[in-house]
Amino acid sequence: MNPVKIFLLVGDPVKQSLSPAMFNAAFESLRLNSVYVAVEVPTKFLDDTVAGVRAIGISGLNVTTPHKIRIVDLLDELDDSANLVGAVNTVKNQRGKLIGFNTDGDGAIRALEENAGTVKGSKVVLLGAGGAARAIAFSLVRAGAELTIANRTFPRAKALVSDIERKLGSSANSVPLRRDRLRKVLKNADLLINATSVGMYPNVGQTLVTSDLIHHDMVVYDIVYKPLETRLLKEAKSAGAEVVNGLGMLVHQGALSFKVWTGKQAPIKVMESAARRELGRKDK
Ligand code: ATR
Repeated sequence: MNPVKIFLLVGDPVKQSLSPAMFNAAFESLRLNSVYVAVEVPTKFLDDTVAGVRAIGISGLNVTTPHKIRIVDLLDELDDSANLVGAVNTVKNQRGKLIGFNTDGDGAIRALEENAGTVKGSKVVLLGAGGAARAIAFSLVRAGAELTIANRTFPRAKALVSDIERKLGSSANSVPLRRDRLRKVLKNADLLINATSVGMYPNVGQTLVTSDLIHHDMVVYDIVYKPLETRLLKEAKSAGAEVVNGLGMLVHQGALSFKVWTGKQAPIKVMESAARRELGRKDK
């Protein structure tokens, strides 16, 4: 038997993560001799952790808050996705060379398209300009969406738009996160995406957009998966819109990491039911 391959989730905190359950179920279902463990790494130990990954030949990493940007400088190479976004959520150890990828944006788009059809040509309003929003914004523009970004800290939205325009040569818009401005852009939008943490447990009563700004021909997608039905999705349902929850993004970004590490198609259904089971368990 080949020696066991070890994959780590590196973040702080990590105890709420559904990823160990999701990946260990995937490894087991394909009978791969591999194991996935979440490790809590304070920022001051990130350099040592990456040195340790090299020293003991860890096969791959998932990287989460707060290390996604800082780890970029500790790697040997970045693929296109990580290079564009400037952040890494997946690392592959290729015979001692550490290569960074970012599967967040494409994972979100796959989840969305699986549920609501193609994003090509659709008018999208994206809430947020943080790490997750950046990854999704680049993937949306690459997939041919017409993008408007709204963020509480408006200069961050403007900076993301100019980054997109400079790196991709496509245009995008930004608006301040104000009701009057949102009302106007949402009138013509096909898709609204929440890529902020607003509405995430324990702040389940919060939403940036209420039902009066949502029309029934719209798809509303929230990347928050705890709870599965956020206040935003409740508002969207009451406006008659189609909704997509955040579990799909978690599963698909994981499935893309799995493909990067193993070269194999991920068992999506197995990963989804493991994540769903673990979510139920962590609720208790
Ligand atoms: P992540 O990596 O999860 O995207 P992040 O980089 O900290 O996390 O980004 C969080 C996003 O949620 C940002 O767009 C943030 O807006 P600011 O750029 O103004 O900080 C947004 N956000 C968080 N709490 C918010 C709130 N109460 N109202 C509006 N936006 C909020």
